[in-house]
Amino acid sequence: MSLTTGVDGSVGGIPDLPVVVGRSDLDAVKSVSASRVTMTQLMGPQDANLFGSVFGGIVLAAVDKIAYVCATRHAGRPCVTVSVDQVDFRTPIRIGEIVTLRASVNSVGRTSLEVGVQVVAESVAGGTERHTNSCYVTMVAIDDEGEPAPVPLLRLRTPEEWQRHHDAEERRRARLELAKRRRERRRGGD
Ligand SMILES: CC(C)(COP(=O)(O)OP(=O)(O)OC[C@H]1O[C@@H](n2cnc3c(N)ncnc32)[C@H](O)[C@@H]1OP(=O)(O)O)[C@@H](O)C(=O)NCCC(=O)NCCS
Repeated sequence: MSLTTGVDGSVGGIPDLPVVVGRSDLDAVKSVSASRVTMTQLMGPQDANLFGSVFGGIVLAAVDKIAYVCATRHAGRPCVTVSVDQVDFRTPIRIGEIVTLRASVNSVGRTSLEVGVQVVAESVAGGTERHTNSCYVTMVAIDDEGEPAPVPLLRLRTPEEWQRHHDAEERRRARLELAKRRRERRRGGD
């Protein structure tokens, strides 16, 4: 079964999988797994704040980088960051710990993609992973002139991928509504 998300972003219950979603007119279709990325790095003294844990900005830079790699893999062309949703740091990351970031495309529009990034930390010696934060990054594919360019459709194979897409569509509507209200306020001179 193949299904393209409606222009209003409406999606129903879980359909027969796999399904294809997206808003561009490209024929190209890519699976979520084709652009999934994992990055691991050791947090060193250069990453420290004054309290011996990792600067939030170091984590945000890593989030932006992995979202770039993931989005660009899916789009097959360079992408830029247009929006990052609220980021909550749930627990500090200590110097000497390993941080792992996992990114995958949740949803695609015509030229934009939502990338979900999960961040976990663990001791070098092993042990349980702590989930430190998750966030959603909206990237836009650009052409040689820096203008938004269409992205391939997205094939969803699992109920989890479908659920992520569904949730991403809700966030997309909220994001665009907020951006619209901000534009209107600016026009009103507030
Ligand atoms: C990304 C950029 C090229 C988009 O240009 P634009 O004129 O806003 O283009 P459009 O209005 O056609 O929007 C393009 C896509 O971005 C989406 N978008 C625009 N603003 C958005 C926002 N605030 N949140 C989420 N998505 C947004 C649109 O919905 C559209 O998605 P779609 O094609 O999938 O429907 C432009 O905003 C830009 O260059 N921004 C700076 C990017 C950058 O430098 N990032 C690094 C920061 S240091």
